[in-house]
Amino acid sequence: MRHPKITVVGAGNVGATCALWAAARDLGDVVLLDVVEGLAAGKALDLAQAGPIAGFARRILGATDYAATAGSDLAVITAGLARRPGMSRDDLLSRNAEIVAGVVRSVAAASPDAVLIIVSNPVDAMTGLAHRVSGLPPARVVGMAGVLDSARMRTFIAVAAGASPKDVQAVVLGGHGDTMVPLVRQSSVGGVPLTKLLPPEEIERIVERTRNGGAEIVALLKTGSAFYAPAAAAAEMAQAVLRDERRVLPCAAYCDKEYGVGGYFVGVPARLGAGGVLDVLEFDLTAEEKAAFDRSAAAVKDLMAKLKNLGY
Ligand code: LAC
Repeated sequence: MRHPKITVVGAGNVGATCALWAAARDLGDVVLLDVVEGLAAGKALDLAQAGPIAGFARRILGATDYAATAGSDLAVITAGLARRPGMSRDDLLSRNAEIVAGVVRSVAAASPDAVLIIVSNPVDAMTGLAHRVSGLPPARVVGMAGVLDSARMRTFIAVAAGASPKDVQAVVLGGHGDTMVPLVRQSSVGGVPLTKLLPPEEIERIVERTRNGGAEIVALLKTGSAFYAPAAAAAEMAQAVLRDERRVLPCAAYCDKEYGVGGYFVGVPARLGAGGVLDVLEFDLTAEEKAAFDRSAAAVKDLMAKLKNLGY
């Protein structure tokens, strides 16, 4: 039997941790790739040696050459710079565009049938860029943001409500930036609306903390950004695709008529299964939610225009 093959580009904190989650979930054979000589090989070897203890069954390889990634079913792109304190995700645009464009061209050439999950920031714009430079159908390119942002919101709700995170539902739409749209109306604990469980001021604090979730960690770490939860989120999406789970997860997916976006990648509920994004699920937003979503989509469009000016 042929096992799925997964490439993870970038052997930094997010990439290496994503390889770990992929191995732990037994998603398939993993190739970890990095331009830094020895980095991916060293981390892959270390991870493979955790196999006998943790029970990993699949192969884990490190490489610098895209030849090793050939024929992958899925690739997670984490390459690029992470934020430092005081930086926004958008500050990374021009440097990461150059890195992501190069990586995506190489990945798509080696694995023309792969689904790409983009993690590099600013993620909505990098997902649009990956779509442009790869020439892949939009359904096969998707960005990781909403799974992370909603996991952050669920964590904060669980603590505030004294509930198990397993019972907390939350949805965050829009771009993965300061304008993201945490949806209080869709948040619940065991089916009980959040607004019945917590006072409005507390909910507002949770919404704000979710919006600043990445920056809060950058400020604490000082030398980099979050990686455990971003990597877990990417692995969750990878699993949904590789096992055709048809999960509905908030992701940066291509929207044309959907939510009136007009041909951009932005965070929406998307059904993930074999081949990538199966469809985008629409529901009626309130006027306030729609205004917030449109502001967020406008911020993404602005970045895409900047990318165009940079020659992409
Ligand atoms: C964050 C980065 C990954 O939100 O964007 O932590």
